[in-house]
Amino acid sequence: MSRAAGDATVVDVWRVALDATRPPSAAALASLEPWEHERAAKFATDTLRHRWLGAHVALRHLLADALGVAPATITYGKGPQGKRFIAAPAAQGLEFNFSDSGDLALVALARGGPIGADIEARRAQPDLAAVAESHFSVEERQALLALDSAEQLAAFYRLWTRKEAYLKALGAGLGYGLGRFAVTMDAEDARLVHVDGDHRVAASWRIAVVAAPEGYEACVAAPWPFAAIRVHDLDVRRLD
Ligand SMILES: CC(C)(COP(=O)(O)OP(=O)(O)OC[C@H]1O[C@@H](n2cnc3c(N)ncnc32)[C@H](O)[C@@H]1OP(=O)(O)O)[C@@H](O)C(=O)NCCC(=O)NCCS
Repeated sequence: MSRAAGDATVVDVWRVALDATRPPSAAALASLEPWEHERAAKFATDTLRHRWLGAHVALRHLLADALGVAPATITYGKGPQGKRFIAAPAAQGLEFNFSDSGDLALVALARGGPIGADIEARRAQPDLAAVAESHFSVEERQALLALDSAEQLAAFYRLWTRKEAYLKALGAGLGYGLGRFAVTMDAEDARLVHVDGDHRVAASWRIAVVAAPEGYEACVAAPWPFAAIRVHDLDVRRLD
């Protein structure tokens, strides 16, 4: 794999296929930090544990490749609301964000500034209107509920992933206020619309949809004008 994220105008995104059937190899597991082993030990099922460990082995592998270091040398730090960053070795301006859902993880790497990533496996939302009420802005909710029911679930996940990627680019938690900002829900037009009614702030943001397999929705967001995303695929089974 070539060394990625060398271009400050581009965001590199990996769709990582996870393996629920077995853990990563012992060699790959040896590269993880103690907190990763402790967290993995807490999962209730092997399926969840295998996916989570594979995703974190893949993340470490991709960061190490981008930095030109061994995976085991990377230590993460954690921002006040949980956003991880590279604490050691020197990050060389490399920013990343990670998301996982179902059998996929999403890793975004950037050198132009902060980045947020979100992937969600679509699930039926029997309480869609109530979730929209608690998670979406007034205009997002109205636009969503005005759609035919057949279109609502896909639009719901477009809104959700765009909002979450925005929050994750900021490194903010849910306490930031999900109704303070609005994103578009059109499949072809992914944008931040406003923050606290300010449309000028929104113009400096980029949101890009990441093509995902059937049943998934994914995107990245950044408060700087990346020119393009490059999408790559990685299967964790290839890391053994
Ligand atoms: C942590 C959070 C950012 C996302 O959680 P999530 O969807 O369960 O998890 P994801 O798989 O997408 O992302 C988890 C990763 O994001 C990173 N992360 C954690 N907190 C973060 C933050 N505040 N900002 C950016 N990244 C963060 C971490 O790398 C984390 O992985 P780790 O636990 O292995 O370190 C948080 O906002 C949350 O709990 N959200 C709940 C979902 C929600 O209500 N979203 C509203 C959308 S409308």
